[in-house]
Amino acid sequence: MQIINVNIENSYNIYVGISIDLIGNHIKKNLNPKKVIIVYDHKLQNLYLPQLNSSLLQEGFTVLSVPFVSSEQNKTLQNAFDLCNNILNCKIDKSTAIVALGGGVVGDVVGFCASILLRGLPYVHVPTTLLAQVDSSIGGKTGVNTILGKNLIGTIYQPSAVFIDVTTLQSLSAKDILSGYGECLKYALLFNKEYFYQLNSINLTNLSHEQIVDIIVKSCSYKSEIVALDVDESKGYRYLLNLGHTFAHALESLNNYNENLSHGEAVALGCLLALKFSSFLGLCNKDLIHDLENHLQNKLFRCTISSVVPKFNINNMLNFMMQDKKNHKGLLRMILFKDIGNCYVDNNVNIQSLHDFLIKETI
Ligand SMILES: NC(=O)c1ccc[n+]([C@@H]2O[C@H](COP(=O)([O-])OP(=O)(O)OC[C@H]3O[C@@H](n4cnc5c(N)ncnc54)[C@H](O)[C@@H]3O)[C@@H](O)[C@H]2O)c1
Repeated sequence: MQIINVNIENSYNIYVGISIDLIGNHIKKNLNPKKVIIVYDHKLQNLYLPQLNSSLLQEGFTVLSVPFVSSEQNKTLQNAFDLCNNILNCKIDKSTAIVALGGGVVGDVVGFCASILLRGLPYVHVPTTLLAQVDSSIGGKTGVNTILGKNLIGTIYQPSAVFIDVTTLQSLSAKDILSGYGECLKYALLFNKEYFYQLNSINLTNLSHEQIVDIIVKSCSYKSEIVALDVDESKGYRYLLNLGHTFAHALESLNNYNENLSHGEAVALGCLLALKFSSFLGLCNKDLIHDLENHLQNKLFRCTISSVVPKFNINNMLNFMMQDKKNHKGLLRMILFKDIGNCYVDNNVNIQSLHDFLIKETI
């Protein structure tokens, strides 16, 4: 097991490679709650819930479990409200801890509920998708989608620990491995050119245990470092982690959060579009596009807007991009490339240039 510390005011650990059987014992040592409510992805009821349940019962906690039907379309305020009521029905008080067992959708919704229930209850993540293990379970961003855009309602509320049992990835679909890889790739594109070229050689359909652990540890380390520098996004560093996301969130919103386009796949395409846009603006070498496009095609990502949004409309896309929650004073903020491994936050992206770029991309 490897332990990564998220070094912020209320610091917490990410335990990479822990077995679910040991989580109860860690919760006892760290939080020692009286009651534990497990909110689980409904698909995990017979997969990992029994193991987690018995690990907690062994420590003498009162344990109750509440299902959440996980999908991007279910990540709504109404469902978060219903979940809050289901948790309140378990007769909770300040000595209750919440455990989120599932992917990024369960994690984001449960984190949001934990942040508002009784004005804040302690919670831990047990992420079970690659995406949640390398990204969404770290850093405390919680939230739900609205028809105006993705994750527009939410809070920043840190978990007390993150427990990553990598064996849970064995039951994950190839599509969801690909989705998680989109966020892993993002870290390489942001911070480490050499790492990006190393990732060329990995085969996502046949990852060894060592390769998975290595990717997760690297990703968690990059994310923790940035979160520690800028926990509430006030200093600007944390925006970097949004590389590709302004395009990605708009594409997901245009698709009505349809499962056909996973978040990580949208992020991977969003990174390619950010690189192409940066080159269009003359900020980086055009040859890099070929390298990233090849990389994505080899891993079987779709690489054009028209392949993921059949009825694409530029004005709708721009409207969603202008609703992005990073924007400030009506100005569009995006992460752009100077090189692979060298990105920066542009606080005033030229909308006309973006419009012209999107036309070029979609004719
Ligand atoms: N909070 C953050 O910082 C942050 C960062 C990145 C992404 N996100 C959010 O994360 C969400 C996407 O997360 P996701 O990709 O994990 O999606 P998800 O939670 O919908 O999980 C994907 C699918 O995998 C299933 N599943 C989960 N664990 C499984 C397992 N071990 N075996 C088999 N099936 C399993 C789920 O039921 C679902 O069908 C998006 O809503 C995105 O906005 C949040």
